Amino acid sequence: ALNLRNRHFLKELDFTAQEFRFLLDLAAQLKAAKYAGTEQPRLRGKNIALIFEKTSTRTRCAFEVAAHDQGATTTYLDPSGSQIGHKESIKDSARVLGRMFDGIEYRGHGQEIIEELAAHAGVPVWNGLTDEWHPTQMLADLLTVQEHADKPLAEVTLAYLGDARNNMGNSLLVTAALLGMDLRIVAPEQLWPAEEVRESAERLAAVSGARITLTESVAEGVAGADFLYTDVWVSMGEPKEVWAERIDLLKSYQVSMDTVRATGNPGVKFLHCLPAFHNLGTELGRQLHAATGMAELECTDELFESAHSIVFDQAENRLHTIKAVLVATLGG
Ligand code: CP
Ligand code: NVA
Repeated sequence: ALNLRNRHFLKELDFTAQEFRFLLDLAAQLKAAKYAGTEQPRLRGKNIALIFEKTSTRTRCAFEVAAHDQGATTTYLDPSGSQIGHKESIKDSARVLGRMFDGIEYRGHGQEIIEELAAHAGVPVWNGLTDEWHPTQMLADLLTVQEHADKPLAEVTLAYLGDARNNMGNSLLVTAALLGMDLRIVAPEQLWPAEEVRESAERLAAVSGARITLTESVAEGVAGADFLYTDVWVSMGEPKEVWAERIDLLKSYQVSMDTVRATGNPGVKFLHCLPAFHNLGTELGRQLHAATGMAELECTDELFESAHSIVFDQAENRLHTIKAVLVATLGG
């Protein structure tokens, strides 16, 4: 049987397809148990550190609620409230926290930082998002796809539109390649995942039978899609100066009811890792509107609020899938 005890969860490329599917199955079981009121706490007595160098709603709350449901405690270290990476090196912080905690979640900038943390912590380290990868998001996304698809993952077509040279583009590309899906990256070529990531995906696809398409054409990319996926056009940590150029590059990749029609699939579902700029309901949204004149960015409000949208099922699944990672790597 598979055993992920004491493993880190740093990036999708560290896992086999079998291990990834094991986590999805475990998440589905934990979700069913929670709904049935039969969940068994398997993390009693465990203490978990949550380090956030960038802000978060879903990831932080999913870790906290998952840990609580399973009987573990959490300590939240916010983007400015500790010595980590500012006054104290990552290597020293890792060795300190590793003496106190049974596992450490880290959200931050470069992947090399979390890799260093993991190398020195002596306890499992989980990636809550870096500039390069968002692996816990992939588990939630694939669980959601599984729940809404009427066919196996290997037969599912997912089209990702927008900034694909970010953590979401990279993670979706390698995860779809690992699991043998039909994945379309639909973006201007400048915003395709880097060569190195594409090569990793091609190697995985050769084994899994995944069909990987990178295209600038929305019509070609979304034809026959079962799922449309998008993410913000500018990610956390990027300077606000890139907005103008990004909007220019991506405005024809906005996901809307027109994109839905272009799939030719009236049952197509819409995914977004969130948070999303589909209205002006936030301070940043108002600033962007003032600066760009656009009221909606990567997706329209009409689509976001439509029956195609399964974004809140997806958000809920962050809880069940992060719980699966905790239970698999720390549980008895
Ligand atoms: N999708 C996601 O990671 O959301 P948060 O930034 O709110 O954690
Ligand atoms: N690409 C986004 C994902 C947020 C969940 C970011 O890094 O800000």
